[in-house]
Amino acid sequence: MMPGRDTAAFAQHLGVVLPGVTTHIWPDVGDPAEVEMVVAWNHPAGELRQFPAAQVICSFGAGVDHLLRDPDLPQEVELVRIVDPDLVTDMVEYVVGALISHRRSFSRYRDQQRDALWLPHDYDRRRTAAVLGQGELGRPVSRALVGLGWHVLGWSRGGRAIPGVEPVTGRRGLERALAEAAAVVCLLPLTPATDGLLDRDLLARMAPDSLLVNVGRGRQVVAADLLVALETGQPGAAWLDVFADEPLPPDHPFWSHPRVTITPHVASLTNPVTAADLVADVWRRMRAGDAQLHQVDRARGY
Ligand code: NDP
Ligand code: OXD
Repeated sequence: MMPGRDTAAFAQHLGVVLPGVTTHIWPDVGDPAEVEMVVAWNHPAGELRQFPAAQVICSFGAGVDHLLRDPDLPQEVELVRIVDPDLVTDMVEYVVGALISHRRSFSRYRDQQRDALWLPHDYDRRRTAAVLGQGELGRPVSRALVGLGWHVLGWSRGGRAIPGVEPVTGRRGLERALAEAAAVVCLLPLTPATDGLLDRDLLARMAPDSLLVNVGRGRQVVAADLLVALETGQPGAAWLDVFADEPLPPDHPFWSHPRVTITPHVASLTNPVTAADLVADVWRRMRAGDAQLHQVDRARGY
């Protein structure tokens, strides 16, 4: 159940890895009473109520906010998500690419090239980053930055210890991380606690001329507050992949802002072939009664 997405390659590969299992592509759901598992991404609210025999609902991506925001989400069904190693690598590439591109002014040189302008720019020597979220994606991003010589402050709820990363927790830990980091990467799940988290107060605590990279969810950064904060230079620039409204409306001020870089939610894209392998694993575990690898904790919200 993935409105607006091209599911052909996914369905085709699922047929290969799960021979004999009938797959329906929404809105054709066959006999809803026979459906045992649903794979969903941005489903219409209420649609998941129609499957009385469903045992598992699987998110077709890392985020699960699209499931949990449905007030009619069936209560007894197990929620799981897929965590694809390829997707993790893609996220690492994206974040490292954004930090380096910003730090080394690559787009500025591209602009200069148009005028055959030979003009070197010095660059920011600070190498402290804050990575908000130390989960399946935040940890590898942190490790990659440590590998490039950055000091990384990793913010999480529980203060996970990761070699080379300084764990920080709580509001005080977050404020400290924001104040010390030349680059802040938001890789948090969208939950009631992270919705609107980076607001005027927290953005004002960011270091002068720092970079904010948001690859979590758009709602975690208050857009109006970010626009004001950019005027003060804290942060000095923003690199945004996710937005409260997607696609970002054409008249949104982010589009024309000289210090905002926009990408259309592409930091890591679900690969339909590897996703089918992972969904098949969820199916087999469900049928065998084995524990799922990536269960969603409804109370926690991720
Ligand atoms: P995980 O569930 O594996 O990790 C979440 C991390 O966030 C954990 O470290 C958790 O802390 C921390 N966290 C959650 N709530 C809080 C809080 N209130 N305060 C402090 N820390 C908190 O998620 P993933 O790493 O797999 O994915 C993160 C998000 O990335 C997804 O939910 C999705 O929104 C986004 N995403 C974006 C993509 C894109 O293309 N832009 C692609 C894929 C995902 P703890 O470790 O203590 O539990
Ligand atoms: C995801 C995403 O959560 O693409 O997988 O944002």
